[in-house]
Amino acid sequence: MESIKSMSIITMLDLPVRGDDRGSLIALEGGITLPFEIKRVYYIFDTSDGVSRGFHAHKKLQQLMVCLSGRCRVVLDDGVRREEVWLESPTQGLQIGNMIWREMHDLSPGCVILVVAGEYYNEDDYIRSYQDFLELSA
Ligand code: TYD
Repeated sequence: MESIKSMSIITMLDLPVRGDDRGSLIALEGGITLPFEIKRVYYIFDTSDGVSRGFHAHKKLQQLMVCLSGRCRVVLDDGVRREEVWLESPTQGLQIGNMIWREMHDLSPGCVILVVAGEYYNEDDYIRSYQDFLELSA
């Protein structure tokens, strides 16, 4: 697992490309390519013009976000720092740990965002109020 770590809350994983003369392929394997087991995969697509998504944190959930097509700007916030990164390559995965507020903005036309998650969907794990997030992360 090759990672580019910075001093920030943005952790990008360089996803290993299995390429040959026909093109490229990336396999995401729980516990190998990713630092957690995979229980759920979902994708965001057909987003209406000008719409931003996210605006929540998770109490326990670990996720990896990959922009498979197009681009989008992701804002991450740990309650103290707020940083942003453009996702625009299917070879780069943004790791999003628990207790990180996330927002996805400026999704380009045709943008497809893949999210790989370590748990099944559970609304009780969501923190959807930024004020609650700040209080819980303090
Ligand atoms: P939500 O997580 O709020 O989307 P966003 O990424 O913009 O924050 O999810 C949107 C809706 O889809 C919400 O009603 C919950 C539902 N949903 C599921 O049923 N299963 C899932 O795995 C996810 C991620 C969302």
